[in-house]
Amino acid sequence: MHVSRRSFLKCGLTNLCAVAVAAPGVASAENVLLKDAGLAKGIDVGSAVRSRVSQEVAKVVAQECSLVVPENALKPANLSRGPGDYRWSDADRTYEFAKANGLRVHGHALFWHKQPLKWAQQQLDGRGLQYAIETYGDFARAVISRYPNTVSWDVLNEIAGTRSMLRNAHPMSEFGVDLFASLLHNARSIAPRAALVINEDNLESGTSESRAKRKNVLKLLKSLKERGAPLNALGVQGHLNSARLPDPEATLDFFGDVQSLGLDIYLSELDVRDSAFDSDFRRRDDQIAELYWKFLSTTLKSRAVKRVVFWGITDAENWLTNGTSQQKRRPRPALFDRYMGRKPAYYAVREALARAPGR
Ligand code: G3I
Repeated sequence: MHVSRRSFLKCGLTNLCAVAVAAPGVASAENVLLKDAGLAKGIDVGSAVRSRVSQEVAKVVAQECSLVVPENALKPANLSRGPGDYRWSDADRTYEFAKANGLRVHGHALFWHKQPLKWAQQQLDGRGLQYAIETYGDFARAVISRYPNTVSWDVLNEIAGTRSMLRNAHPMSEFGVDLFASLLHNARSIAPRAALVINEDNLESGTSESRAKRKNVLKLLKSLKERGAPLNALGVQGHLNSARLPDPEATLDFFGDVQSLGLDIYLSELDVRDSAFDSDFRRRDDQIAELYWKFLSTTLKSRAVKRVVFWGITDAENWLTNGTSQQKRRPRPALFDRYMGRKPAYYAVREALARAPGR
């Protein structure tokens, strides 16, 4: 299904229609690509990609994005099966795709408790902080050295908690902030020019969990700063949820606090879980577009936001549509449909980029 910008503006999204009427001529031109709408404002637009990306998706990504993120290929559990044993081929494929298409690469993720170095887990329990620093430090050295042109790294993924500053999970609870400060210092020593990032989930919703998480993330960032840990940006994943709607104003306030700590913000894993929206897919597409619009038109007011990355820019290759091909109601989380048609969400995002202040 192809939806033109004109039909998006007619679609009944009252907010956007009101803005379009009130400010004629400000809106983005019909043929502007997302990456150009973003770059005009100093914002990189990107997408997560699979290592075996289909030709159709590859074409859309190469056309619309200036940056890619390997969705799974760089995760510790997928990359290393034993000490010194690395399987590079999946990640290599993404880096080759990026190079062939002039795309920058963001590396995700050097540390994640959910996809750890499985072979090191048991020793981590017994041998303590120094072993954890050395094992993950060596892993980061090997990965960063293989892909030295990577513009930025999620050195740490999902370490903050809701009930406490750090997530109550192994090995965060045992080793605390010292482990993470060391891993940041280690990454900086190997990648002097790359932006170093902490990437966090569940920061943007209106729930009490999200509110608590925002506070804990600020506490964590301050605590790392006190230890002199090198850090350039906070990744705000932005898995928007129709059942737990985002609170864009609270998120914008939070971005102000993060910026005052001297950090950039990367919207790093955007998509929409649409299960609480209409079952008619056209109406649902409008609701999804409106959600992207409400979130981005507010949060992009923060000049600290330097990146907008989708966690799969098409419904064809997106983790929320995995294994749903037999379902009557398939999720429609992304900007392009399964046939690479632009959905209302595409126009909403492009409009939000076009109206964002420059940075
Ligand atoms: O490749 C195998 C396939 O061979 C096998 O048949 C199939 C059976 O389940 O599994 C396939 O691997 C799956 C892989 O995705 C590729 O589709 C894994 O089971 C599955 O666990 C993995 O899920 C990924 C998940 O992280 C866990 O690593 C998702 O694709 C990926 O989108 C998701 O991304 C995370 C970010 O890294 C961090 N933030 C949250 C985000 C969403 O959960």
